Amino acid sequence: SIRCQSTNTKEPKTSNILDNASNLFTNLLSGGSLGSMPTAEGAVSDLFGKPLFLSLYDWFMEHGGVYKLAFGPKAFVVISDPIVARHVLRENAFSYDKGVLAEILEPIMGKGLIPADLDTWKLRRRAITPAFHALYLEAMVKVFSDCSEKMILKSEKLSRESGGDTIELDLEAEFSSLALDIIGLSVFNYDFGSVTKESPVIKAVYGTLFEAEHRSTFYFPYWNFPPARWIVPRQRKFQSDLKIINDCLDGLIQNAKETRQETDVEKLQQRDYSNLKDASLLRFLVDMRGVDIDDRQLRDDLMTMLIAGHETTAAVLTWAVYLLAQNPAKIKKAQTEIDAVLGEGAPTYESLKKLEYIRLIVVESLRLYPQPPLLIRRTLKPETLPGGYKGEKEGHKVPKGTDIFISVYNLHRSPYFWDNPQEFEPERFLRTKESNGIEGWAGFDPSRSPGALYPNEIIADFAFLPFGGGPRKCIGDQFALMESTVALAMLLQKFDVELRGPPESVELVSGATIHAKNGMWCKLKRRSK
Ligand code: HEM
Repeated sequence: SIRCQSTNTKEPKTSNILDNASNLFTNLLSGGSLGSMPTAEGAVSDLFGKPLFLSLYDWFMEHGGVYKLAFGPKAFVVISDPIVARHVLRENAFSYDKGVLAEILEPIMGKGLIPADLDTWKLRRRAITPAFHALYLEAMVKVFSDCSEKMILKSEKLSRESGGDTIELDLEAEFSSLALDIIGLSVFNYDFGSVTKESPVIKAVYGTLFEAEHRSTFYFPYWNFPPARWIVPRQRKFQSDLKIINDCLDGLIQNAKETRQETDVEKLQQRDYSNLKDASLLRFLVDMRGVDIDDRQLRDDLMTMLIAGHETTAAVLTWAVYLLAQNPAKIKKAQTEIDAVLGEGAPTYESLKKLEYIRLIVVESLRLYPQPPLLIRRTLKPETLPGGYKGEKEGHKVPKGTDIFISVYNLHRSPYFWDNPQEFEPERFLRTKESNGIEGWAGFDPSRSPGALYPNEIIADFAFLPFGGGPRKCIGDQFALMESTVALAMLLQKFDVELRGPPESVELVSGATIHAKNGMWCKLKRRSK
């Protein structure tokens, strides 16, 4: 079997939490027969050593792109092959639902897009997709840069107050506040102001995220037992956090309905954002769909976007900094581009097009640290999988109700599709490669997605899946990529970044996204021009 060791970029330590163990234990007794598929026999003790997605990589090297992971009578199918991933996500997408993920998220997101059943999803996806049009994104770049500026000004102030030009900051926490402020303003025109202050709503958002994380990493779903919400203190707190957020969202929805104006509707119909005071998604949905739009569904949609768009983007920025800090030459290269394109100014929609290296840093960070590292599906009917890239046999029969993990982490670090897969090389996306002629896999080819600002799943024919693929692909992909590019460019414009300690001292844990267990502590040094 092939082992891939990083040479110039260190990997973080891993932690001993029960990563995603709940998913495994809750389903332990449901059984499953998957015929002749290669089998990784998981000992329960394997779940305690390190995050599950890292163990799945080791088993991928041993058993190939499609294998079953057997824990006692329960089997999971783990897919690390682009042809099979494409089949599940795109070609046969409606034969699967979100399985255990939907069970965990439903109490928080209701019938929002991520956990929604197929019928609800089809209606809501059609309603929400038009809201993310190009002019909305253009208007949001200003929100991204205004919020990032507040973070930079705060850091500069702290560094001046410290009497020197260097400060130590937990950038994971800073990016989390930044992403929360951005999502609040852009999705429902609410200023959390979390970069500079704390509030009950902010605390409730973090409390809810914390609980979602807990549920995805705890080994049995005790919260489904109704009295738990009164007896267990953390469940009581979760209910009260949910109420705080729901009350806040309900207030915003009522306000959006009451302030609906025909002139705004006309502007939106003409996609004229220039004089619109509130360009948020909520405004768009209420204005375009009218006040009869269902409050409950609207709230579920907003809550889904709040959760889906917050930690993910913060995590991308956190790991981008971790990778860059170990590669000072790449920081310099990025700063040369930033200075040439932006000078002292803020990024605009137009200048983003010229910040090519920063955009590639963002996608390369997503390749090495995909958020989330695993996509979860469950078969709605018996399925037959296609053959895979590395000679995986065609025709594996998968019974109805089988839980499937598509390991984005494995695909992104697969030695079969990437040169030096463990290395941080943003430039890799500029290389052109001919299809290597493997039946069913079109190979890696940036020219397949000509107008795209950022590399996507199409260029690598599903070997690169930072936002999933097929009909349930992330709806906020361009939003998140632009947001990350703006924030990173503005940070590097003003600061040099180093890690506070050795890279190995950063401890990796994972729930829905990959975190640094004790934060991403960095030294920020003001750049002298
Ligand atoms: C779905 C990643 C930011 C809203 C997804 C999926 C991935 C993903 C991988 C597919 C999940 C699956 O197939 O099971 C990311 C990453 C982000 C990000 C890495 C940041 C870098 C955002 C933002 C928003 C958003 C900013 C909204 C403002 C959604 C929604 C879905 C989704 C609503 C469900 C789509 C559907 O099922 O139709 N995201 N996302 N995401 N994302 Fe994102």
